Parts: sequence; structure tokens; C-alpha cells
Amino acid sequence: MEIARFRRILVTGGAGFIGSNFARYLLEQGAPEIVVLDKLTYAGNLANLADLAGRPGFRFIQGDIADPAAVAAAMENCDAVVNFAAETHVDRSLLEPAAFIQTNVQGTYVLLETAVRCGVERFVQVSTDEVYGEVLTGRSRESDPLRPRNPYSASKASGDLFALAYYASYGLPVMVTRGANTYGPYQHPEKFIPLSVTNLLEGRPIPIYGDGRQERDWLHVRDHCRAIALVLTRGEPGQVYNVGAGNHRPNLEVARTIVRLLGLSDDLIQHVADRPGHDRRYAVDASKIEALGWTPEIPFDEGLAETVRWYEAHREWWTPLKSGEFADYYRRNYGARGVLGRGEQ
Ligand code: NAD
Ligand code: DAU
Repeated sequence: MEIARFRRILVTGGAGFIGSNFARYLLEQGAPEIVVLDKLTYAGNLANLADLAGRPGFRFIQGDIADPAAVAAAMENCDAVVNFAAETHVDRSLLEPAAFIQTNVQGTYVLLETAVRCGVERFVQVSTDEVYGEVLTGRSRESDPLRPRNPYSASKASGDLFALAYYASYGLPVMVTRGANTYGPYQHPEKFIPLSVTNLLEGRPIPIYGDGRQERDWLHVRDHCRAIALVLTRGEPGQVYNVGAGNHRPNLEVARTIVRLLGLSDDLIQHVADRPGHDRRYAVDASKIEALGWTPEIPFDEGLAETVRWYEAHREWWTPLKSGEFADYYRRNYGARGVLGRGEQ
């Protein structure tokens, strides 16, 4: 089952980081028609889709996935839905959890409900390895219990459970993907890799939370998009698929590599207060999606070097994102020592 067989695919959250890369990937793969529905929160950015606007088969609609009327209009005549729309930043979820529940739980519910009514043939719920909670040793399998430890991951876990319940209860052909930490072009500079690169390009230090020994598995956005597209076309309804690249690195090592790639000094790495409830490590066993035919293709060292070059070459894209809303958010919530919890504001 290839991408071109779908008449019209709804990509929610397609003005964000992974969603915009995915929309571009779908058109490259011959998708006849895609509709992007996005609320354009602080994280949504039409500049991410500028090269797609005006192409035949591409349509953008501004709207909220928690608004049933907007969703019904966007989903009309769609045979597939891929849901990327979410509040995604763990730090923000510690400060304002309500928006995470509204979009990641209520919004997912509205999409599922509408998909049942529209008779959608394939529905991919894009989720995260964070739903397993921190994994100090070994790797999470899809059948492992969900132990989310922050409001973001708790809201995503809840969205997963609703998605799977809609398969069991109403027969909606839902697949869930649980991806690892993704990096690459068009990622908002609030996240660790783009924050580090753009801070250095602005002559500012990288803030490392706590001891910097927390480990993440870094997955290039193109590999992540290929995995989601494979699940869309060949995944089995009712199943969950982990997506991990096996590129586990402590944050401090990633920061040092970025500093080196820019020819700078390690003095620009500054330890700051730790994130409350900071998960030390995530790691997934990706053998199930590998059995479906996926394997990561982009080695981390190459992907990271290419990503650093992309941010160097696209200052006009990220400079506005670091002023305005983001600058206010940073000023309000982060002191000179780093992240502040809610009680410390
Ligand atoms: P992002 O924050 O860059 O983009 C999210 C997009 O969703 C934005 O365009 C935003 O405007 C839109 N959005 C938010 N609330 C909305 C609403 N109520 N209605 C419609 N649109 C709304 O996020 P991302 O990093 O691209 O993540 C996309 C998805 O992938 C999320 O579901 C996230 O949980 C998941 N994921 C992300 C990663 C990662 O490392 N970035 C890893 C695994 C899974
Ligand atoms: O694992 C998948 C998840 O990865 C996604 O589901 C989330 O949407 C995505 O935001 C990401 O979550 P993390 O919390 O792992 O990503 P973040 O980029 O915020 O942080 C990565 C690591 O770097 C984490 O251990 C915290 C640390 N960090 C982050 C920032 C922003 C720092 O040390 N300093 C920072 O300034």
C-alpha cells in the first residue's frame, strides 16, 4: 500500500517541526492531495510550509483540533489522518499543563470521533517514547506499561489510550507511533539542539540542565517521517510502533559536539538548575517497526553536522522565533540559574 493510493490525507499540526517535514515528504512520495490543519500556536509557523504553498494538491487550513466544526470541515473526503498536532515542550507543560490536556487529550478525542463518523480508512496517532517514563536500563517495548512523569507525557499517554480505545470500541483503523527525540531542520529553537546551536550563533552559552548526563536517543526528522509514512501504509490497525535510532548520547556530549562543529570553546557550556522531574533516559526497542521494513538511515554525526549548517544558513527563519513570544516566555520562566519550577516564579 503506497502513499499515492490515498486520495486525500489530513495532516494535523503540519505547520510544526515534524508535521511540516512530513507534509513535504508526502508530496515527494506522490500523495495526490494533502490538507494541513494547524492552529498556528507559538510553535506553528507558515514559513515551515512556504515552499509547499501554491503547489497542486496542497491546502492549508488554520483551525484547532479540539474544535469539532473545524475538524469536520478539514476531514471531509479524507481517507487518512496523521495527527501531529500537540503541545510538545516538556518545560512549558510544567508551567501550564491545561493547554496540554486541551490539545493532546481533548483534541485527539475530537479527531478520533470525527474520523469514525467520516469513515477514515487509516489514522496514525503520532506519539512519543516519553509515555514509557524514564528507562534507566534496557529498552521499552510496545507492550510495556505507560509510566509518564510530566504533564506533557501524561497527556500524550492519554491520547494514545484514547486512540487505541477507538480501535477496540469502534473499529477505527488506528496505529500509534512512539518516536524518540527528533532533530533536524525547522525545529523550534526552544528545544535542546536548536536552542544550543542558535544560542551559540548569537554569542550566548548553552544552558545544560543539572549534570547533563541525561540520555536521549536522537532520531533525524527524515528518518522519523519515513517511519510514520511506513506505519500509515503498512502498519496493522490497533498496533503501536516504537521508532528509535539507537543514537543514545548524554546531553553534555551533544552540547560538546555542537560547540566543536561551530569551532567554539567548551566554556560556552553552562550548567544550570535541573528541570523538575527530569527523566534521565529514554530508550525504545524498535524491532517491531524494523520488521515492517524501516531502518534509520542518517548517522547522528552527519545529521547533527547538517542540522548545525542548516541553522547557520537560516538565521532569517529562527531569529524572529527567538524574539517576541519566546523571549517573553524565557524571561518570565527562566532565571539566571536556568529552569524555574512553578513554585519559584
Ligand atoms: P511542534 O511543537 O513543532 O509542532 C506542533 C504543531 O501543532 C504546531 O504547528 C502547532 O501550531 C500545532 N498545534 C498545537 N496545538 C494545536 C491545536 N489545538 N490544533 C491544531 N494544531 C495545533 O511539535 P513537533 O516536535 O513537530 O511534534 C509533532 C508531534 O510529534 C507531536 O505530537 C509530538 O508529541 C510528537 N513527537 C515529537 C518528538 C520530538 O522530538 N519533537 C518526538 C516524538 C514524538
Ligand atoms: O523523546 C521525545 C520527546 O523529545 C518529544 O516527545 C518531545 O516533544 C520533545 O520536546 C522531546 O522532549 P525532551 O524533553 O527530551 O526534549 P528537549 O529538547 O526539551 O530536551 C532534550 C534534553 O536536553 C532533555 O534531557 C533536557 C535537556 N535540556 C533541554 C533544554 C531545552 C537542557 O539541558 N537544556 C535546555 O535548555
